[in-house]
Amino acid sequence: MGTSRMFRIFVVLGSAFMILLIIIYWDDVGASHLYLHTPVSPGPKIPHPPPPHQQPQTSRTPSFLSDIDAFVNQFLEPGTGEPTDPVPADTSNQSEKAEERYIPRREWKIHLTPVAAELRERQEQRRRLLQEMCANDSVVFPGKNRSFDDIPNKELDHLIVDDRHGIIYCYVPKVACSNWKRIMIVLSESLLRDGVPQRDPLAIPRDLVHNNSMHFTFNKFWKRYGKFAKHLMKVKLKKYTKFIFVRDPFVRLISAYRNKFELRNEDFYRRFAQVMLRRYANQPTPPASVDEAFGVGIHPSFSNFIQYLLDPQTEKEMPFNEHWRQVYRLCHPCQIQYDFVGHLETAEDDAEQLLRQLRVDNVVEFPTSHRNLTASSWEADWFSTVPVEARRELYKLYEPDFRLFGYDRPDSILNE
Ligand SMILES: *[C@@H]1O[C@H](CO)[C@@H](O)[C@H](O)[C@H]1NC(C)=O
Ligand SMILES: *[C@@H]1O[C@H](CO)[C@@H](O)[C@H](O)[C@H]1NC(C)=O
Ligand SMILES: *[C@@H]1O[C@H](CO)[C@@H](O)[C@H](O)[C@H]1NC(C)=O
Ligand SMILES: *[C@@H]1O[C@H](CO)[C@@H](O)[C@H](O)[C@H]1NC(C)=O
Ligand SMILES: *[C@@H]1O[C@H](CO)[C@@H](O)[C@H](O)[C@H]1NC(C)=O
Repeated sequence: MGTSRMFRIFVVLGSAFMILLIIIYWDDVGASHLYLHTPVSPGPKIPHPPPPHQQPQTSRTPSFLSDIDAFVNQFLEPGTGEPTDPVPADTSNQSEKAEERYIPRREWKIHLTPVAAELRERQEQRRRLLQEMCANDSVVFPGKNRSFDDIPNKELDHLIVDDRHGIIYCYVPKVACSNWKRIMIVLSESLLRDGVPQRDPLAIPRDLVHNNSMHFTFNKFWKRYGKFAKHLMKVKLKKYTKFIFVRDPFVRLISAYRNKFELRNEDFYRRFAQVMLRRYANQPTPPASVDEAFGVGIHPSFSNFIQYLLDPQTEKEMPFNEHWRQVYRLCHPCQIQYDFVGHLETAEDDAEQLLRQLRVDNVVEFPTSHRNLTASSWEADWFSTVPVEARRELYKLYEPDFRLFGYDRPDSILNE
């Protein structure tokens, strides 16, 4: 009696153990179907001094691009600092935790289907159009003919570089730029939360997203690399994948107006709205603060905004603010050959294709927006208050952006 009970217990325990083994085994097999465990070639280990904000444990699995980067950096930054500006967001108490939990994910996602042919074709067309327009002498704009070397340092402040993945992003305000900046922060792994790089783009607070110290831009190269800066930039421009997102130029202006002047924004009120009210709205002494102005229902109209853009005085005082500055001035599309040109109008497909092309779709997803986006169909309504003459002048101001990026001339609002 006793021995047979012992035997049964033994059998039950043994079976449970076997089942456990099988479960663990299947988990492993399942995972290896989804991810490649080792990137292409481990390659020779190139000594790369770990940036001070990283823990010693976090040595990266060398990937193809970080090999190149380490190689280039060896020559160009002997002994100098970190690849990105770290922001010590909450680095106070992280040391032990970071060593345990920070496991860099470098595996590439395996896709069973190729990128749809029409998406690849669309990219091909957009890139070809850019080349054609840059070569076509009927498209004229200031700075078009200069070489990359002649672009002043301060005009390179919109190019964000990510050395880890070999990516350069030129951000255009009012074209999903907050979300792409968030993605660049996630990819740079420079923002730590509890000692672990922040992985969720939407968890990054807004003020941090737009804080320049979060982003390593080309104009910061001078400080760091001195006279090698331009050379290093050109190396990176050649090796890295460069992308840009654009949208219909007029719709971008409507979006800028809604965002900066229809909402209470003290900074923009003081810097721009007061000027517009004084000059174009018969308000010699506009209210002192945005709250006062909204309190009495005063804000510059869309037509005032367009007047401001067309006024030669505006550019004399200072270059256009980045929210309405032309894309060709922000991103130098004739000097930089963008590998990927996204359109806001096709943002979701483009984002998916781009993240896949950059091989980071295992790390980050493009956040879908639920905000009340400015729609192209409102264009006619918005411009109905703007005199036709002004519309045509405005088109001339933004014509290079229309043509470079393949947006049709808005005939319906220009030919009235
Ligand atoms: C870090 O947190 C632990 C508890 O989680 C605490 O005991 C320790 O004092 C903290 N260290 C610092 C430097 O704040
Ligand atoms: C340049 O653009 C003009 C106007 O759009 C067009 O008529 C012309 O064919 C283009 N030239 C070349 C060489 O593509
Ligand atoms: C650029 O060069 C072309 C000739 O190659 C010339 O026709 C055009 O006027 C130049 N544009 C500017 C802005 O200097
Ligand atoms: C940007 O971040 C830096 C460092 O975290 C901070 O010192 C600075 O005040 C921030 N700037 C703005 C405008 O928030
Ligand atoms: C979006 O904004 C427009 C104009 O600002 C407004 O007319 C429209 O009702 C808004 N739509 C929603 C769904 O909030």
